[in-house]
Amino acid sequence: MKRNILKGIAFAAAVAAVFPTATAQTSPSGVKVEHLGVNNTLVRLEGDARYLLMPVQESNDDAKINVLVDGKLDKTIYVKLAKSKVDYQVPLDLEKYKGHKVVLNVVTSQDRSSVREASNDACWNNFSLSDTFDTANREKYRPVFHHTPLYGWMNDPNGMFYKDGVWHLYYQTNPYGSKWQNMTWGHSSSKDLVNWEHHPLAIEPDGLGTIFSGSSVLDTRNTAGFGPDAVVSLYTSAAESQIQSMAHSKDGGMTFEKYPGNPVITLGSEARDPNMFWHEATGQWVLLLAHALEHEMLVYTSPDLKDWTLRSSFGKGLGAQDGVWECPDLFELAVDGSDKKKWVLLCNLNPGGPFGGSATQYFVGDFDGKTFTPDLDAEGKVPTKWMDFGKDHYATVSFSDAPQGRRTVLGWMSNWQYAAEVPTQQYRSANTLPRDLGLFTAPDGQIYLASAPSPEVDSMRGQLMKKSGKASLSSKPRNFQLPAANDGICEISFDLAARNGSTVTMTLANTKGEKVVMTYDSKANILSFDRTESGLVDFSQDFPAVTVAPVLDPKEKLSVRMFVDRSSIEVFGNGGELVMTNLVFPNEPYSTLSVSSNGKADITDLRIWSLAPAK
Ligand code: FRU
Repeated sequence: MKRNILKGIAFAAAVAAVFPTATAQTSPSGVKVEHLGVNNTLVRLEGDARYLLMPVQESNDDAKINVLVDGKLDKTIYVKLAKSKVDYQVPLDLEKYKGHKVVLNVVTSQDRSSVREASNDACWNNFSLSDTFDTANREKYRPVFHHTPLYGWMNDPNGMFYKDGVWHLYYQTNPYGSKWQNMTWGHSSSKDLVNWEHHPLAIEPDGLGTIFSGSSVLDTRNTAGFGPDAVVSLYTSAAESQIQSMAHSKDGGMTFEKYPGNPVITLGSEARDPNMFWHEATGQWVLLLAHALEHEMLVYTSPDLKDWTLRSSFGKGLGAQDGVWECPDLFELAVDGSDKKKWVLLCNLNPGGPFGGSATQYFVGDFDGKTFTPDLDAEGKVPTKWMDFGKDHYATVSFSDAPQGRRTVLGWMSNWQYAAEVPTQQYRSANTLPRDLGLFTAPDGQIYLASAPSPEVDSMRGQLMKKSGKASLSSKPRNFQLPAANDGICEISFDLAARNGSTVTMTLANTKGEKVVMTYDSKANILSFDRTESGLVDFSQDFPAVTVAPVLDPKEKLSVRMFVDRSSIEVFGNGGELVMTNLVFPNEPYSTLSVSSNGKADITDLRIWSLAPAK
């Protein structure tokens, strides 16, 4: 007997030498790790837990993970599995796999000399199964009244619409890390545009690709045949190529069904971010598609949201032409609140913004249902116009079907130059405050876009901390205390009357000497924003910057409204005729506002509100 066993062992050893078997590893409970080779590992899951928590190391390369359910490929995701240390964990939701066998086939990209070396990676012992995933905020800089994802990366707002009293926001997200990857539509909704509720992922990658930006419409005429209550979305399926796909929702945007006939638009070149609307005058759907590398927007029409015909293109050689053109939008607005109307075409581009990196330009003109014709300036040229003169305003598009004919927009409050480097980790990026758009005529005869904070924003006002009448300014700064509650989040508003071309300096500062310096030059009619000493700035060489906005329609007073939300400052001048959105990362909240002038100037109607955090 004994001899036979020994013989058996000897035989097994001999087989192993010729045909090495997989190396199993002692693993966390319910997770069985088997190394198949230097780059390939199987992770078998047991039990019925809700989540697999996957260990991430931000600086590592992506591992490619095929999620196999009962042996069939359900999805492929890319995760920066930890090599030498675990920065945080991200959840793989196992809810829909309950009762099935789940195996992850993991391909790591690192070159390892041996399986033994590969098996030392920190990730293998740090997977865990759990019924909960802790999303309690760990971030000092997470804004309070701006939308942020609960965890993970976010870029563009997508597919926004308003229905039955609720604003729906979808967004580009990576559910498996805080850098761009695995593009999926995340989903949040709000009744007041400032308090947001988080919902499960809305549209996930499939065989056609990951889910890039797009738009949604309410198909109340039932043109697509999904029913008059259907929400219909078009997005870009991005893989080897970029093609346009459709999905619809019958439960008000909570869950989506993809169209079996996808894709609905294909082209022989890079094109993305379909944005659709119903064109009343011609009774058809219109869609704009960013022909990214050609620097033009393609205009399509359709009777049913499925069959699209290319009608025209706009933009070649016009406006800012650097980088790529992305995320279009097209809508009509009243001019100066009158009966006169004009069309506005939004064109996000990256890089090539006025202060480097990404920014939103726009064109004002006419649209006949097929062709957009831009207005010309006094010299007969198409002027370049910017929607926001900060560094952190991108991918801005509007909600479909906003109430009372409003044109309400949200942007992504970051810049591709450093979005992945900002000093946050659990989440990356917030949206801008919601803004309602209008058009105004400036003294140069041109029509410009005004972006004012949406009226809902007023509802956040808590205690009025400071209210003062008229005070004259001098070179000796007047100092005003900012609220200490909620890390100093606040709204500040005041009017500046600067005479004889004087300059007014407004400084937000903390006790560490970190500051943001804003300067209103009433002679040059510009407002500048200097964040070079605002706090943490050296995580990217592109972050320290001075942004400058023109006061396009100077008045006797410059009225200023400013919103501070931990890591962002949005400055609105003259009811949105001037806007600057900039991120800041002070080591402690700014605690004072100091205002001074080199000449004759007054500050009037100063108000400082502490803002109530989201309920
Ligand atoms: C703009 C953009 C879009 C694209 C998406 C991908 O920021 O590049 O053009 O659809 O991001 O996440």
